[in-house]
Parts: sequence; C-alpha cells; structure tokens
Amino acid sequence: MATVLSGIQPSGDLHLGNYLGAIRNWVADQYVHDAVYCVVDLHALTLDIDPAELRSRTHQTAVDLLAAGLDPERCTLFVQSHVPEHPRLTWLLECTATMGELGRMVAFKDKSAGRDSVRAGLFTYPVLQAADILLYDADRVPVGDDQRQHIELTRQLAERFNSRYGATFVVPEASVPTVGARVMDLQQPERKMSKSVSSPLGTVLLFDTPEDLSRKVRRAVTDSDGDLRYDPVAKPGLANLLELLAVATDRTPDLVADGYLRYGDLKKDLAEALVELLRPVRQRRSELVGDPGAVTALLAIGAEKAHAVAAETYRRAADAIGLLPPG
Ligand code: TYM
Repeated sequence: MATVLSGIQPSGDLHLGNYLGAIRNWVADQYVHDAVYCVVDLHALTLDIDPAELRSRTHQTAVDLLAAGLDPERCTLFVQSHVPEHPRLTWLLECTATMGELGRMVAFKDKSAGRDSVRAGLFTYPVLQAADILLYDADRVPVGDDQRQHIELTRQLAERFNSRYGATFVVPEASVPTVGARVMDLQQPERKMSKSVSSPLGTVLLFDTPEDLSRKVRRAVTDSDGDLRYDPVAKPGLANLLELLAVATDRTPDLVADGYLRYGDLKKDLAEALVELLRPVRQRRSELVGDPGAVTALLAIGAEKAHAVAAETYRRAADAIGLLPPG
C-alpha cells in the first residue's frame, strides 16, 4: 500500500481552494492508502500569529479536517509540533539544502515581498515541509498546484541525501488534481484563493452559510462580453466558475460551459452545487464542536502513531549522516 502524506497550516479558516485542491483528495486517499495528515503549526510561526490564536486555530483546523471527512480510524491525523522529529530532521535537511535553492522558492518570494524584516524560518520553511514528508516515507503528496515547487525541492533533498549518505529516504511525488488544483479568488481571478488575502467576498470559506456562499458566487467577477466559453487566459473569472462547477459535478469545464448561455444561470447552479457539496461538511462540524475533548484525545492518538514512524526514520537519517547514537 502506498503511503500518502500532506499538511495544512492553521493560519486561517479553511476555504474552497484548500478543500478542492487538497482535502477532498485526502479524504478519498484514506480509503485506499496508508494516509498521514498533519496540522502544521510550526509552519504558521513563519509569519506573525498571536499565540492564543495559533493554539485555537490549530485545534479548530483539526476539527474542520474531521468535519471534512477525515476518519481517525482510517488515517493518522496529528499536530506537527507534537512530534519532535519534525524540527530534528529539518536540521539535517537544512545542512543538505543550499541558500540558492531556497532563494528560488516562489512562495518565499511572494510572502517576503515588501517586508522590512523577514523571519529566517520563512526562508527555511520548505525544508521543514520536506522533513514532514520524508519522515513518513511518503510515496505521494496530495496538494494543490501552489505546492509543486516545494515537493520538487523535497525530491531533490531526498535524492541528494541518499546519494551522499546511502539510501535513507523514499523520494515522493506530488499528486495534484486535474481540476480544482488552483481555485482563484472570486473577486480577483488572477490571484489564487487564499487564507491571507484580504478579500472576504472573493474567498468562499468551507463553513460559510449557504446565504453567504450564494452571495459570493453571485457577485463573482466575470467579464462583460457575455460569451460563455471556457478560456482561462482571456476569461479567468468565468473559467474559475466553470472549473468549480466541473469539480462539484464531476465533469470537465468545457462540458459545463456547453450547458449555459447566461452567466446568471451558471452562477445560480454553481451556488446550489457548492451548498450541496459542503452540506455534510457543515453538518459534521456542528456535531464535532460540541466535544472538543474528543478531538484532543484523537490528536494524542494520532501523535503517538506518527511518532512511532517518525522516530525510526529520524534515527535512520541520523545514523546515515554520522551522528553518534545515544547510549
Ligand atoms: P496551505 O496551508 O497553504 O494549503 C493547504 C492545501 O491547500 C491547497 N490550496 C489550494 N488548492 C487549490 N486552490 C487554492 N486556491 C489553494 N490554496 C491552497 C495547497 O496547495 C495545500 O495542498 N506548505 C503547505 C503546508 C505543508 C505541507 C507539508 C503540504 C506543510 N508541510 C507537507 C504537504 C506536505 C501550505 O502552506 O499549505
């Protein structure tokens, strides 16, 4: 059975991009693979975040992942900082990565642009991500399109480490969906939907009320020529809506476009399809929020399972690189 691993930052409310680009596939993968998922709270420290907010968002993100359909009986779900091998392996990999390759990371360039002071952790962020993946011998990493470069770096670090010190890590592959891998902001369709963009109308949250969701879809930016066809370059706003309806109804965007003459009809059907798609997720969340203790207990079990695997991989890497074993 292949092993899949993925992670999500607890830095904001989950949105439709997270769900369609990643989480929906995590749910599917847990039935057919050995699946490991983590809430990457250490990654969230690379940008400003209030300590109390980090704590509550970390717990809430775990609740939301369970609501989205992760089943702790079928997958390992844990919080990154609960497994100390993540930062430990990061150091070995930081001594494998180069400044040049980290400086080429697009996510780093985006997130550091215009800031006077950039945390060192933001620069080394992809190395921590590589440690997350390599600790579990993951074969596949289900992510959205924006993570491709980080997975490519992970592959390079694994290959370099293996060639220097002997076969230690499994070299993973990114698993990116064909549609839904890059959900765009509904108000600024040239930007991807994101937790951090200050565009509340452009971001569909997983737990928006049906009314809010419908309002956001209705007000989505398209274009004014009225020509309803799928063309991501010339008509990015419309293409985004077609892609969303395609994922929600399991068709291709071109096929979806064939069924409509008017933008308003498309928006109406899209809003309905998304409300339906997210209905069970909303329902499960309202059951889970009433029992925070149960989620804490599940995360403790997840951390224990994760730690058993991570400790072994870390030891293998530490031995290979020449660290003297303790005792
Ligand atoms: P994060 O927290 O930004 O996003 C979590 C997942 O959601 C996907 N995603 C999207 N997919 C489609 N359209 C969008 N607009 C969109 N926005 C986000 C992301 O691609 C991601 O799969 N660095 C990672 C977290 C991470 C990780 C890992 C991932 C840390 N360690 C190990 C995989 C393996 C991140 O910031 O994702």
